Amino acid sequence: MNTTHVRHCSLEEGSTLAQFLTLPYSLNDEVSDDIEAHRRRPEWMWVAEIDGLVVARLAWWSNPGDDAPGLLDILDVRDARDPTHLDAARRMLRTAITQVVPPEDRPPDYLRFVPPDWRADDDARVETEALMAVVAGTGARLFVERRRLEWRVGTQIPPRSGRLRFRAPHDDAEIVGLMTEATAGSLDAYTRLDLETMSAAEAAREHFDGELAAQVSPRSHWRVAIDHDGDPVGFVTPGHNYYHPVIGYVAVLPRYRGQGYIDDLLNEGVAVLAATGVDHIRAATDLGNTPMGDAFDRNGWMEFERSMNMTWRAPTDRS
Ligand SMILES: CC(C)(COP(=O)(O)OP(=O)(O)OC[C@H]1O[C@@H](n2cnc3c(N)ncnc32)[C@H](O)[C@@H]1OP(=O)(O)O)[C@@H](O)C(=O)NCCC(=O)NCCS
Repeated sequence: MNTTHVRHCSLEEGSTLAQFLTLPYSLNDEVSDDIEAHRRRPEWMWVAEIDGLVVARLAWWSNPGDDAPGLLDILDVRDARDPTHLDAARRMLRTAITQVVPPEDRPPDYLRFVPPDWRADDDARVETEALMAVVAGTGARLFVERRRLEWRVGTQIPPRSGRLRFRAPHDDAEIVGLMTEATAGSLDAYTRLDLETMSAAEAAREHFDGELAAQVSPRSHWRVAIDHDGDPVGFVTPGHNYYHPVIGYVAVLPRYRGQGYIDDLLNEGVAVLAATGVDHIRAATDLGNTPMGDAFDRNGWMEFERSMNMTWRAPTDRS
């Protein structure tokens, strides 16, 4: 007899949140606050059990109050080497997608946080590849591997070169305009994907609305870099997301690239946040965005994690 029971984990079903939290992951500490703040919903949180034991689970995340989930950021199995656990995870994921994501929609991206050296660590590699195979089984493909980086208090902030001056942006429209210019020649995979289906201005607006507008800190922290003629060279948007101080976005305009200006912008962003007393700052960049990654490495940031981002390209992928 098949004893696998895939069931919906909702808070109305008694201790299901406690059961949900029996599998370890780096986001466990945030789940309760996320529910409280309407970034996660009980109907977007699922567990799979075999004979009463939770062997797999998943959860979607969204900006507070959104109607649809924006990210599948939790998917775990108890034992990634046990085929019955993986099968339970596969069935749970298929059922959950069918019930949570409207049939005409593309499922939101899957994100898995892994150690930076995950390919060299046998357990991490087996687990990561097994989970990615579960997700691939519903039609998703690896889109990009990203580096997650952290600056920690006590790390010396290199002085700015003196070639640029910094001022607050005039308004949101100025930042969106600079973001539009900065999309040209970007090595960022999401930016390049956006540019396949929308104009640079639309891509910038969507990026701004989806990420920067949701920062919970004042925009007075944002900086535009100008050269000695007063022309904008780039910008940086230090701030706070729901969880951490972050360098939300940083860019050098195309005609100024290749002169090391990124160091000035990054370090100015760090200095702005450090002056407010934060003890760490987070940021992320594509593994393939080497000019950006090199700037983090040069300026004292530590890579603490990677993320594997998988995408479904079409609603029909999931079948
Ligand atoms: C990533 C970025 C900030 C780098 O800024 P920068 O000031 O030009 O960086 P550097 O001067 O240190 O460039 C180092 C090298 O990378 C090259 N390079 C920089 N950006 C590049 C790009 N987008 N495409 C190809 N090569 C690039 C430079 O020409 C230089 O080459 P060289 O060593 O042969 O002279 C800039 O390309 C940018 O704004 N990109 C779009 C936005 C972005 O990706 N932001 C980061 C999001 S996490």
